[in-house]
Amino acid sequence: MIMQSEKKSVVTDMIDQAVAALDFDQLHKTYWEQNEFLVIKQFLSRRFVEDVLVPQAHGLQTSLNRNYIPGHKKGGSVSYYTVLEKGPLFLDLYRSASYRDFLNRLVHADLLLCPDNDPHSCALYYYTEPGDHIGFHYDTSYYKGARYTILLGLVDRSTRCKLVCDLFKDDPAKETRHLELITEPGDMVIFNGDKLWHAVTPLGENEERIVLTMEYVTNPEMGRFKRLYSNLKDSFAYFGLKTVFKRALSGQFPSS
Ligand SMILES: [Fe+2]
Repeated sequence: MIMQSEKKSVVTDMIDQAVAALDFDQLHKTYWEQNEFLVIKQFLSRRFVEDVLVPQAHGLQTSLNRNYIPGHKKGGSVSYYTVLEKGPLFLDLYRSASYRDFLNRLVHADLLLCPDNDPHSCALYYYTEPGDHIGFHYDTSYYKGARYTILLGLVDRSTRCKLVCDLFKDDPAKETRHLELITEPGDMVIFNGDKLWHAVTPLGENEERIVLTMEYVTNPEMGRFKRLYSNLKDSFAYFGLKTVFKRALSGQFPSS
């Protein structure tokens, strides 16, 4: 059991209630039947997300880093470093004891928060300009252990920008199952990063999509060269050179 000594915030309280209301046995069965992939529609209510979390997500938008990799990715990101400074509500969710306990039971692992020098640990992705998207990829773990991704829909004013997933793509013995998902405010997606082949389709005109992403690992160690590769990828594809390397090289990370 993970202990949490701090005074409960409105988010922590809501997460505790949301976790307690889940049909764990059914979700557990579905997660494993779907090759470590699960969608929980309305894990948090749309109203709670829009009233409490979306204002903070819009506030963080001033710290957005936009990126463009022709043929693969276009969009905006706010890193964990910014969330640490200005996004306490998202940290409450990321660190929630009841939520982490639920995840541990779901994925059969003792999940840890990412080290503080990983800008993806708890970050936000913004699809705000026409054509913003990301091509197909795995959330490959460069850590010595597995890496799990959790997405929480915050804003979804879009008919075109969808999370598309090919389940079982990594399993040659199984037929691939193609899914196209809308992540409405409060919807949660949980998956093992090395197993889910996924993409986000391009945003249309006058549309907006914002997603919170959280990352947990089974072993926070990473080799030096994999860390360098990971930092370079994060610099160009997500958060910018200055953000990633200033923090990665400083060696002074707040504790989590
Ligand atoms: Fe991804």
